[in-house]
Amino acid sequence: MKQMLIAGNWKMHKTLKDALELAYQIKNWVATNNLRVEVAICPPFAFLYPIAELIKESQIGLGAQNCHYLPEGAFTGEISPPMLVSIGCQYVIIGHSERRTHFNESNELINKKIISALNFGLKPIFCIGETLEERKEGRTFDIIENQIKSGLQSVENKLLHKLIIAYEPVWAIGTGISAKTEQIEEAHKFIRKTLQELYPNAGDNILILYGGSLNGGNAKEILSISDVHGGLIGKASLDNREFTKIIEYAEQID
Ligand code: PGA
Repeated sequence: MKQMLIAGNWKMHKTLKDALELAYQIKNWVATNNLRVEVAICPPFAFLYPIAELIKESQIGLGAQNCHYLPEGAFTGEISPPMLVSIGCQYVIIGHSERRTHFNESNELINKKIISALNFGLKPIFCIGETLEERKEGRTFDIIENQIKSGLQSVENKLLHKLIIAYEPVWAIGTGISAKTEQIEEAHKFIRKTLQELYPNAGDNILILYGGSLNGGNAKEILSISDVHGGLIGKASLDNREFTKIIEYAEQID
């Protein structure tokens, strides 16, 4: 069976009560299903600790949606990798397109965050992907290659086993229309080739997730694509039934 990670990105949704309820439902579902795939949820910062406590003895991993690259300091409003580790996080989403777009995160900043997260023992879910305009201009592969090369600059080989990449075409995020099977296949192949060229020893083993309107209706087809090692799921991760349906499909794939 191929290794898979199904990760929910809750973005800026829910109140504490609703967040705990969803985490509780997922925990109960996971407990009654002997899972082979890895499952993780990435709630907003404010809910990480109570959810960490709730899912402590479960098979569910916990991730943050962002972090600073320094361990501590005078950076009002920021959260550091060691803080996340101290409350029980194993994952952190880095370089999401919403952070690139709305918070001006550059490839250079993302690179610093990836290095720091890895050094502190977190598994970064490093998001890459082209905009619609870039795709229309035929620049998809150039953009992805540049994001990978700059994002992973100076990352130590020995830490690569913790790295996860999420290919998320920006035009498919939150639109309800995922990329087509051939587009995903082609992009994942390209990402794999780029990783293999960069890291001849480790490039084969880095998980590559797909993200962008992945849901219960298209999960089976998308997760079956070779070199798709799971998904980063936004909207569909906010509902227990929808999210667990995706996990169920992932379980069925060899
Ligand atoms: P979506 O979001 O599933 O709502 O498209 C995915 C993401 O932003 O990670």
